[in-house]
Amino acid sequence: MKELSPAEIVLMRKAGEITKNALIYAETLVKPGISTNSLDKMISAYIIENGGIPCFKNYCGYPASTCISINEVVVHGIPSERKLKEGDIVSIDIGVDYKGYKGDAARTFPVGKISPEKQKLIDVTRECFFEGIKQLKVGERLGKLSHAIQVHAESNGFSVVREMTGHGIGAKMHQSPNVLNYGKETDGPIVIANTCIAVEPMINMGRKEIFILDDGWTTITRDLQPSAHYENTVLILADRVEILTL
Ligand code: MF3
Ligand code: CO
Repeated sequence: MKELSPAEIVLMRKAGEITKNALIYAETLVKPGISTNSLDKMISAYIIENGGIPCFKNYCGYPASTCISINEVVVHGIPSERKLKEGDIVSIDIGVDYKGYKGDAARTFPVGKISPEKQKLIDVTRECFFEGIKQLKVGERLGKLSHAIQVHAESNGFSVVREMTGHGIGAKMHQSPNVLNYGKETDGPIVIANTCIAVEPMINMGRKEIFILDDGWTTITRDLQPSAHYENTVLILADRVEILTL
């Protein structure tokens, strides 16, 4: 885990604030009939107007500013002319660079009226994040967070995606450690102060297996059942954690 200076923490807070506000804005746009390309363009413009740079664009060749993942798409959905429709769930993942520091966060939103099962999936995925965060303390193993997320998802009858994880974040969007959403309490590094991680449970309604489409990005559940995502950038301090994107 990479320690941040007080000046770097100021910039991480600002990156987080722009990311948070971009998600609040994104939520107001989610309606049946809007294309994911329109969402991407509007969110990108919002980030720039607020002094940030959308940092997914061109990251490892990624072609858009946001990831927008509908229903069975777990993560990394590429914006397109596809339109949201009533009953869908849509995950919007946003990354912002502010003066070289990164914010990264995601939410899954309902489109109009959705089924109770899909609403439960969204709710449990968000709860998984908070169950994990409760276990995030300086001096403890990061595995305590990972384990708590897995227990909450599975005790609600859902499954945890294994292939993708949260991550350390700072001047780079992805850095060590990997922040697993499953595993043993005794695994993982010892948590240290003045570091940031992105915690991001990806939870499937059905089975945990996924596959990636030929575009190299779009990640889909094997059983084509819905999946939800909830992510925040979290600052770990000596005596508390601060959620920078909420
Ligand atoms: N937001 C993703 C994550 O949480 C990363 C998006 S990949 C990108 O790790 F290529 F779109 F940037
Ligand atoms: Co992330």
